[in-house]
Amino acid sequence: MVTEEREGLTVAQTQGSDPSMEHDPPDVPFNVAAVEGSELDYVQQAIQGGHPASGGEFTRRTAELLAADAGSAEVLMTTSCTAALELSAMLLDLEDGDTVIVPSFTFTSTALAYARQGAGLVFCDIEPRTMGLDPDHLATLLDEHVRAVVVVHYAGVACDIEGIRRVLAPWPRVRLIEDNAHGLFGTWRDQPLGGFGRYAALSFHETKNFVCGEGGALLLNDADDVDRARVLYDKGTNRRAFMLGQVDKYTWKDTGSSFGMADVLAAYLLAQLEQRHVIQAKRRRVHDHYDAALTPYADELGFEVMQVPEDSGSAHHMFYVLLPDRDRRNDVLESMRKKGVQAAFHYLPLHASDAGRRFAVRETDCPVSVQVSERLLRLPFHNNLTEAELDRAAAAFLDATAAAARSR
Ligand SMILES: Cc1ncc(COP(=O)(O)O)c(C=O)c1O
Repeated sequence: MVTEEREGLTVAQTQGSDPSMEHDPPDVPFNVAAVEGSELDYVQQAIQGGHPASGGEFTRRTAELLAADAGSAEVLMTTSCTAALELSAMLLDLEDGDTVIVPSFTFTSTALAYARQGAGLVFCDIEPRTMGLDPDHLATLLDEHVRAVVVVHYAGVACDIEGIRRVLAPWPRVRLIEDNAHGLFGTWRDQPLGGFGRYAALSFHETKNFVCGEGGALLLNDADDVDRARVLYDKGTNRRAFMLGQVDKYTWKDTGSSFGMADVLAAYLLAQLEQRHVIQAKRRRVHDHYDAALTPYADELGFEVMQVPEDSGSAHHMFYVLLPDRDRRNDVLESMRKKGVQAAFHYLPLHASDAGRRFAVRETDCPVSVQVSERLLRLPFHNNLTEAELDRAAAAFLDATAAAARSR
């Protein structure tokens, strides 16, 4: 049984249920990490090559592919997106009293990476159009203590980049960081997500579009950061300069940690990334299927279907809907679970969490984050959902929503 909060599956699987109807495991699971190309072959090569640690040939090829996509000065492959965010936090060289603005509606890592590095947190609300940071709220939170603003492209849809840039324009010292865990190969006005911030972090956790078990990357979009970042990345040493023949021995230079992705995992990941057009087309098909099946019933049954603004090219990380309130959302989740379809809620607002309260420098109101957290439901979403599974998931959702609407 899956009980990980990351996937928001716990309510659906623990609330009152009829054992005779239970489906465990579900017939239509929420996520399946698929093999899409040369994964096994590449992993075998990485192992047989005798250098499966970080910094090998597969790591180099993977980083180059990602750098070319976003136009980055350098890409560092990391053990996770959390690690990439932590590395970006180290690059900020935070001092006492510095703060970082983060969304309340996001995974813990978006905030914890900066708290761990000593930043005071300021939680910003999201706006309902994109579920990204709300520029109007952001404008009220900026002051001389703020060193960075972290945005998330929720579900693979760009946040309001234009609005956020406008609000940040009078604050040149504030760095924009993209937590792009959902948005790899998404675009805004035809420009790649991950290319807008000074840094951008990616995730290759098994729940993402491109996977290698656990993995991440930090995109450095400013060449000035590259040398320092390489040292922090390599346990505080100038090993990279040594490998590039720039120095004749390497020594301890700075703080840092062991951030590098193992080459054996980069091999797994490279095979997935090589299939990016195939994978993204499969995911677009899932999105379009749900959109066509659900949208005609939205008004009648009282739910909202996720929207992709005109100027965004979605990365199709997930498909979500909004129910009128938490009770109805939970009823629908439970009813779908009984029918063998694994849907999920998502993040609990960080500003109201124990650690969020502890690390926030002041209380802020994030009403949209609270509402969205209570109302949002994600449908099963992975590369290889069949037409029959998609029909079954959509029908289970519509039946459950109609029943929930009738019972209130
Ligand atoms: C927005 C966001 N940021 C960061 C992470 C953490 O990613 P990782 O598990 O690769 O550290 C997640 C994980 O689900 C996420 O959704």
